[in-house]
Amino acid sequence: MKAQVNGITLHVKDRGQGLPLLLVHAFPLNHTQWESQLDMLTDEFRLIAPDMRGFGASDAPPGPYSMDQFADDLAALLDHLNIEQVVLGGLSMGGYVAFAFVRRHAARLRGLVLADTRAMPDSDEARAGRETNAQRVEQEGPGFLAETMLPDLLAPGASPQLRANLQAMVENNPPQGVAGALRAMGARPDSSELLAQIQVPTLVVVGEQDKVSTIDEMRTIHESIANSSLVTIPDAGHLSNIEKPAAFNAALVEFLRGL
Ligand code: MLT
Repeated sequence: MKAQVNGITLHVKDRGQGLPLLLVHAFPLNHTQWESQLDMLTDEFRLIAPDMRGFGASDAPPGPYSMDQFADDLAALLDHLNIEQVVLGGLSMGGYVAFAFVRRHAARLRGLVLADTRAMPDSDEARAGRETNAQRVEQEGPGFLAETMLPDLLAPGASPQLRANLQAMVENNPPQGVAGALRAMGARPDSSELLAQIQVPTLVVVGEQDKVSTIDEMRTIHESIANSSLVTIPDAGHLSNIEKPAAFNAALVEFLRGL
């Protein structure tokens, strides 16, 4: 489905009926990251998975982009779909967007799923690296990111097929969108103080072998959110929902049924 929101067109998968779960993909992926969830959970729940602005088949307008703008796109998408409240789930960059959504649209949250993400902002060094990568993406496209990032995103046992799928996902994103998102991630604020203000039930999920957002970081997020539970996914790295969909989905279903 195509949705006109905030002056742009978003490409959105909207499948199933029941409690709505809005899923926000990681960087530099697209909504197909959630294919296993869309396939396996829509008998019981309504899953909404957009390509965020700048990714996949959504518009990639000129920057600057920001986490606030991504969050506002989601709120506008909910308006478009006539949905008042959702469970919002985000993995990694999707989690950064979820934090912005908490700041700006908390009343629309029924629950939160924070997967393999970080509350801390970038260090100065990491921010400078984002800018270098953004300029390189503008010059040569996003393909090189697949080579530099994938080794850190997946647990060692990940299949060649999965690696190839992810590589294609990365390469097919519009350069302008990827560069915009890199700068937006570099500029994202510290969300550690925000965690104590989160009131809604929250599921915190992390792949046991996640090198990007470690179990320790995710445990801190869990311990800072009063009404939260922590689930670790064995044999998964940073992209836990893709690497071990059965375990990820089991945690999600238990959480959603409990709401
Ligand atoms: C992601 O998976 O979305 C990225 O690793 C996030 C980041 O680069 O900070």
